[in-house]
Amino acid sequence: MLLHHASWPEVEAYLKRCKGIVIPIGSTEQHGPNGLVGTDAICPEVIAAEAGAQSGFLIGPTFNVGIAQHHLGFPGSMTLRPTTMIAALNDWIESLTRHGFDRIYFLNGHGGNITTINAAFAEYYANFSLDAAPCPVRLTQRNWWELPGVGDVCRRLFPAGEGSHATPSEVSVTYYAHPHAVKRVEMTPKIAPSASFADAADYRRNFPDGRIGSDPSQATPDKGAEIVAAAKAALIGEVSDFFGVKPLAQAAE
Ligand code: NI
Repeated sequence: MLLHHASWPEVEAYLKRCKGIVIPIGSTEQHGPNGLVGTDAICPEVIAAEAGAQSGFLIGPTFNVGIAQHHLGFPGSMTLRPTTMIAALNDWIESLTRHGFDRIYFLNGHGGNITTINAAFAEYYANFSLDAAPCPVRLTQRNWWELPGVGDVCRRLFPAGEGSHATPSEVSVTYYAHPHAVKRVEMTPKIAPSASFADAADYRRNFPDGRIGSDPSQATPDKGAEIVAAAKAALIGEVSDFFGVKPLAQAAE
């Protein structure tokens, strides 16, 4: 069930059965010559939406602008400062806990978000620790590509050129979600370079077309469907364990 498609009485009824919610969280940033700027938000969003439809677990809105200062050398990229994101995440968390949600699972689509999400969790828990009050809420984050079994599928589909940014795996997932947005672009060089980076100017100098170590011209909607199927199944299992509640519904496929 999607929070955005539910009425408030439906959310109230859900909270009597389950106090957990999944929040997809990503980024709005360049993903190379054929990748969508929304890639890191779209991937967790589609995986969570399909898992929510099958399991009945509630899926919240996508937190879709993250830490992408290093991508600002490319048109369309947007970023939050880490301090802004920590504050915004705490407002999201406190809005949900006010209604009784006590398990919030962030399904992350962007490696650059990880440390800031953890900092936001520490900020939230500090409210309780400093008050010497036990916190009834548990927060967790998981990168979708690290869900059990997903890496095996990605390595089988893309034995070469997976890389670490604008990967054929993530681009495939977005092409599956939005087949009208598929772009066919020749990659030069075929596999992009790998290196470190600091700010936006440094990133653009090191990675002129935006990719890191990848060949996303291998991406197809069919491969994305395989990845999403594996991620969906693993996500339902993990969320069920974290919430301490069995899936609420098994929709017909
Ligand atoms: Ni990405």
